[in-house]
Amino acid sequence: MNIVRQPHSVLVFDSGIGGLSVYNEMRKKMPYLHYIYAFDNEMFPYGDKSSEFIIDRVNSVIETIAKLYTISLVVIACNTASTICLPNLRSRFSFPIVGVVPAIKPASQVTQNNCIGLLATKATIQRTYTTNLIQQFAKNCTVKLLGLSELALIAENKLQGIPVDMQQLKNLLQPWLGLTTVPDTIVLGCTHYPFIKDELQIIFPKATFIDSGNAIASRVYNLLNAQYNLHKISTSSEENIVLSTTYNQYVEKLILKLVNYNLIKYHKISC
Ligand code: DGL
Repeated sequence: MNIVRQPHSVLVFDSGIGGLSVYNEMRKKMPYLHYIYAFDNEMFPYGDKSSEFIIDRVNSVIETIAKLYTISLVVIACNTASTICLPNLRSRFSFPIVGVVPAIKPASQVTQNNCIGLLATKATIQRTYTTNLIQQFAKNCTVKLLGLSELALIAENKLQGIPVDMQQLKNLLQPWLGLTTVPDTIVLGCTHYPFIKDELQIIFPKATFIDSGNAIASRVYNLLNAQYNLHKISTSSEENIVLSTTYNQYVEKLILKLVNYNLIKYHKISC
């Protein structure tokens, strides 16, 4: 008889709830896996922190979680962290680490007017990693960059039931509203932004929005399938877990909503 090994937990990590947009795609493709969703709300947002700080912090959060659970694979579901942390993380941990970075390559294949917009945190916009991605995959396109600190919080608030202030959003996106050539393809280079895609679409009605969620789910599938033969495994019997680095009223309300994402058990971790 073939013994089919069940993967251990797959960890999805972000500074906040943005990584849920990636987790959603992973769960659609691989509902049978056991997931841990961890967010570093103690240090949210990462978009205004230094690179050195983010590297140390992400190391210490992943290290803490890896001591508590057996991890098969980690997804750093945060562009701000992935564009700076991956080499360091990969040198420290033996499990595969998948990063989420702006979907410049697919955008360059979709654009009709060769004008791409990249919407991300200020930190992601400034990274050499991002400049290199553009150089490598969108050399023949004009790439408009817009780094915003406020959008991730607007998305967090929306998930908590606070409606998006459309005037505020419009003001933030003002730099792109008066452009002679408006990007026809906009890369959502922060995992929080798919949660406010409907509102962004109202402001840019003709644009196509691209995020990395689906591509990450496929990447994770391929990596795990090579090791565990996923079409033979049965659904994990354990409840999915949600972890945060601080507990407050916000988290108290949030964990009730996360049940809808099949994230059932909550624990606070100290890093
Ligand atoms: N979700 C994170 C990203 O993809 C950013 C949010 C933050 O600033 O912490 O970049």
